[in-house]
Amino acid sequence: KLMKIGIDKIGFATSDLYLDMVDLANARHEDPNKYLIGIGQSKMAVIRPTQDVVTMAAAAAKKIICQEDKEKISYVIFATESGVDNSKSAAIYLADLLGLKLNIRTIEVKQACYGATAALQLAKGYVALNPESKVLVIGADNARYGVKTPGEPTQGGGAIAMIIGSDPKILELENETSAYAKNIMDFWRPLGHSKALVDGKYSSGVYLDFLKNVWDEQLKRTNYQLQDYGALLFHLPYTKMGLKGLRQILQDATAEDSTRLIREFEYARQFNCEVGNLYTGSLYLSFLSLLVNSTSIKSGDRIGFFSYGSGAQAEFFTGILQPDYQKGLAGVDYWAILNKRQSVSVIEYEDLFERHVFDIENIELDYQADKSAFLLAGIHNYKRKYLSR
Ligand code: CAA
Repeated sequence: KLMKIGIDKIGFATSDLYLDMVDLANARHEDPNKYLIGIGQSKMAVIRPTQDVVTMAAAAAKKIICQEDKEKISYVIFATESGVDNSKSAAIYLADLLGLKLNIRTIEVKQACYGATAALQLAKGYVALNPESKVLVIGADNARYGVKTPGEPTQGGGAIAMIIGSDPKILELENETSAYAKNIMDFWRPLGHSKALVDGKYSSGVYLDFLKNVWDEQLKRTNYQLQDYGALLFHLPYTKMGLKGLRQILQDATAEDSTRLIREFEYARQFNCEVGNLYTGSLYLSFLSLLVNSTSIKSGDRIGFFSYGSGAQAEFFTGILQPDYQKGLAGVDYWAILNKRQSVSVIEYEDLFERHVFDIENIELDYQADKSAFLLAGIHNYKRKYLSR
């Protein structure tokens, strides 16, 4: 029998600050239901200037990594589209903060929100050739469109960390996948820009078009029907986007399939509603949300994943939920963490947003208010200085 390869553990970290979407709607003179229902977001993570993709990734990984993992991790693949350097990979900073071995590989990958799926598939191939090794895969981002832009209510941030290995506790990845790539300008961030440029309405249409492509292709390849899926998960730039995707797939579904897949989708979007867009991490935050919140999924269920990254690249792949999947969550109480966050006012959010540093030669950051385990303390001669405590 072939060796099983897949997701052994999954961890998540976000900011300790959030903005209530009702407050944002009021400040922008919008009906709160536009954000709560129309966009499908209730809160948005507000990232402190002393946090970035490296510090959030370290916090996410720390939740799941044990000593045995540290010894076995020989590859760190860091997916991000809000990286901190155009040359040096965020994975090197991360490996250092986590105290990983030095005889490992550390790289960063990029293709918008699809990056973490690329990392996952690379890791799977690597483990197939190196069954004793583990790979640390990161999807970490800070989604920034800008104050008072249409994309503003779809910002957010945080990091997902996954350990990929053989005989995984959480999910065995199946081999048949469908990918689709086409040069499209729906969302991009030119060099030197700290905020994304986006053609919002167009990007939502392209997302659905790419979903149709990979879904139809996967149907041809596997012949899996709706009844063969315990849950379908989506990249969630905002949670209504995934609901639109699901509705497109469910057009001709039986009542039974619709009821089950909509029920599981509702579990799978709870965390995303609380945090906002994680870009690379969003699909995997939705997976974590399903694992934590669903009372109906069970070992043996097939889960479908739709990954989308603007520009644009899509992939649909599947996995089988494993008996020990709860153990792969490492006992972290995510609702306790989310509920403990502090809310900030719209003015405070705007101030924190503008205080993030980009392309600065020297700065000392005031990190007293930030109680996180990993911090960006400053930049000296364009070199980032991280702290762990
Ligand atoms: N009650 C309930 N619903 C309401 C409402 C109310 N009072 N008022 C408005 N709505 C609904 C609208 O009907 C609409 O729903 P539908 O899309 O189902 O028709 C929804 O709220 C949003 O309203 P608008 O379309 O008027 O919103 P907008 O023009 O302000 O912008 C957006 C929405 C285009 C998504 C914008 O937020 C944006 O540009 N976001 C960033 C881009 C993005 O996330 N694209 C997703 C695909 S790209 C991708 O996936 C990669 C990635 O991560 C970026």
